[in-house]
Amino acid sequence: MPHLNLESFNTLTLPAYCGDVEFLFQADYANSDEGALIATRYKGREFFLVYKNGSKKLLKSDKITRPSPNFILKHALLAYAECSASPILDSNVDNAPENTHLKTHDALKSISYFAENFPQDREVRIEIGFGSARHLLHQAAANPDILFIGLEIHKPSIEQALKQIVIQNLNNLMILDYDARLFLEFVPSNIVGKIYVHFPVPWDKKPHRRVISEAFLKESERVLRVGGTLELRTDSENYYRFALETFSSPSVSRFDVRKNQEIAIVSKYEDRWKKQEKNIYDVTFTCEAESPEPDIIGDFTFAGAPIDVNVIDRLSKDTYKRDWGFLHVERLFSIGENGRMIRLAMGSFDRPESTYVVIENNSAHYYPSFPVRSSANLKAHILLDELIHG
Ligand SMILES: C[S@@+](CC[C@H](N)C(=O)[O-])C[C@H]1O[C@@H](n2cnc3c(N)ncnc32)[C@H](O)[C@@H]1O
Repeated sequence: MPHLNLESFNTLTLPAYCGDVEFLFQADYANSDEGALIATRYKGREFFLVYKNGSKKLLKSDKITRPSPNFILKHALLAYAECSASPILDSNVDNAPENTHLKTHDALKSISYFAENFPQDREVRIEIGFGSARHLLHQAAANPDILFIGLEIHKPSIEQALKQIVIQNLNNLMILDYDARLFLEFVPSNIVGKIYVHFPVPWDKKPHRRVISEAFLKESERVLRVGGTLELRTDSENYYRFALETFSSPSVSRFDVRKNQEIAIVSKYEDRWKKQEKNIYDVTFTCEAESPEPDIIGDFTFAGAPIDVNVIDRLSKDTYKRDWGFLHVERLFSIGENGRMIRLAMGSFDRPESTYVVIENNSAHYYPSFPVRSSANLKAHILLDELIHG
């Protein structure tokens, strides 16, 4: 991680422009001389530089707001050191210019992309846990008018798929590094033609980690259009029986089960099971009715009532656990005499989000951006709003 080892750390009078980098405000770790966070704006990104006052005086990036690509961070670090006249003892930072060939990959999307404006101009098909991506790439190439979204949590598989998207010049395939169990809540109702779940991890000893659950099946029914299908393909007899049992609650779909059905493209896992002459089961759920739009309500604004900084200073560092997820106040910072900043972890247990809230002049706002608009984050926000207003 790029960092500067400073002889001494000098503060700036903020806000300040240092060439083309803007330093906006400084938030000091409360009740400690551990260091400070410096809000920085450069090339349209806002993020924190972190000054750590330990055996060494290090200036580096904040993990939560870290900008990409790396040259943005390096440039901002050097700009701060120069502008504040903080002498550098040593560093691993060069001031190489932006590498214009290293563009961020277009097909790799963040969850905010889907949460804020889900693409709705064509049929969508989703593959969950695409692994080697053989099936996903084959489907995208064969159906250029359909938008494919591939979900994976295994980074090397994601990189491999992104490389193939470039080689095969596919422009109807988006990749997302996100837990599939939480993704469907961002999908509008009735727009998905197919959801593929091929050879999911069976988790025989930890069934709560399985992708398929009652909540997942209900959400699948909501996002599928009439006639759309959820296709589970597995070598695990346990898993397919579990899926059928989970599905037996009242629903708007029908299902059928097939054994050892051939499909157009065989995945790496399927190859392996076939060599071992294992049975392969297909369970297909077909959606038979339209669903209403979900009612995720609320936003991330805070109540307008005055905020007492003493209440903020006394905020408990406890974790507030609820059935929808949790809220945890991690650290407190001070901005000048009366401003405060909180670092939080919040949302669902499976995909917690870390973020900052700035409290100044009697009002609060998330910084540098809102959390992802999930139902768990919205509920955590309501709880936080109550806590900071005492
Ligand atoms: C057994 S592999 C199967 C890969 C591929 N579908 C195939 O047939 O070869 C299961 C994949 O699901 C991914 N996975 C597991 N849990 C997931 C989750 N909650 N969300 C997204 N992907 C997940 C794993 O990283 C793994 O690559």
